[in-house]
Amino acid sequence: MRQVSNSPLPTFVVTDPIEAARELALRLRDLVAEQPNFVLGCATGHTPISTYQQLAGLASSRAIFGGLRTFNLDEYHGLASDHPGSFESFMRRHLFAPLDLSPERTLFPRCCEGESPVQAAERFETKIQESGGIDLQLLGIGRNGHIAFNEPGSARDSRTRLVELTASTRAANAPDFPDGTPVPTGAMTMGIGTILDARRLHVLAFGVHKAEIVRRALREPASREIPASFLREHEQVELWLDDAAASSL
Ligand code: PGA
Repeated sequence: MRQVSNSPLPTFVVTDPIEAARELALRLRDLVAEQPNFVLGCATGHTPISTYQQLAGLASSRAIFGGLRTFNLDEYHGLASDHPGSFESFMRRHLFAPLDLSPERTLFPRCCEGESPVQAAERFETKIQESGGIDLQLLGIGRNGHIAFNEPGSARDSRTRLVELTASTRAANAPDFPDGTPVPTGAMTMGIGTILDARRLHVLAFGVHKAEIVRRALREPASREIPASFLREHEQVELWLDDAAASSL
């Protein structure tokens, strides 16, 4: 592992993403062992899968993570939680089932029956506050610079809300809907302000297709056009890249 010396935030580069996954899983295990009521912010997408596999594979995980609470960054709007393309299904498959976490410990921004998106968003934010706040948020970066579903144009102080997905994001996620269900046009997402409230952020980006947006997020002035650029404001943020994602720095 090497550190990028001239980056505006601590930036670690590994040869193989599995190295980052192992390191993050061990760190998380230690953090949760020290603080059994730990609150973890979870991300979906291809990037965090290896970290979840490593976490699930740690021999002591089930015992240690029993008190864990999680909040997910985002969820499709109008998609049943048990649809195979939902982020809830994704998290159950990759992390919650292996850790034996019950649904009450894992919260997603989604509307309950009869609830409006505004009410659901307020409930979600309130639950985060009642839990004491997110101790560590895992994050990926979209090719267009989005974090969670905060697409370009999202405000720095945005909070949890219903958003419309861009065509590029829907196209990127289409492989998760092989049954012919169209990718939903909307999603509920934590806002950028919500994300920046987490006590720590661990941001992951792997692959050459992320190199250009990683460069822009670190090197261009922070702006709404590149939501990931706002991560530089956080005092406890780390960026984990592989050589390919770091190749334009
Ligand atoms: P990915 O998505 O992990 O599938 O690349 C990241 C993101 O869109 O935030």
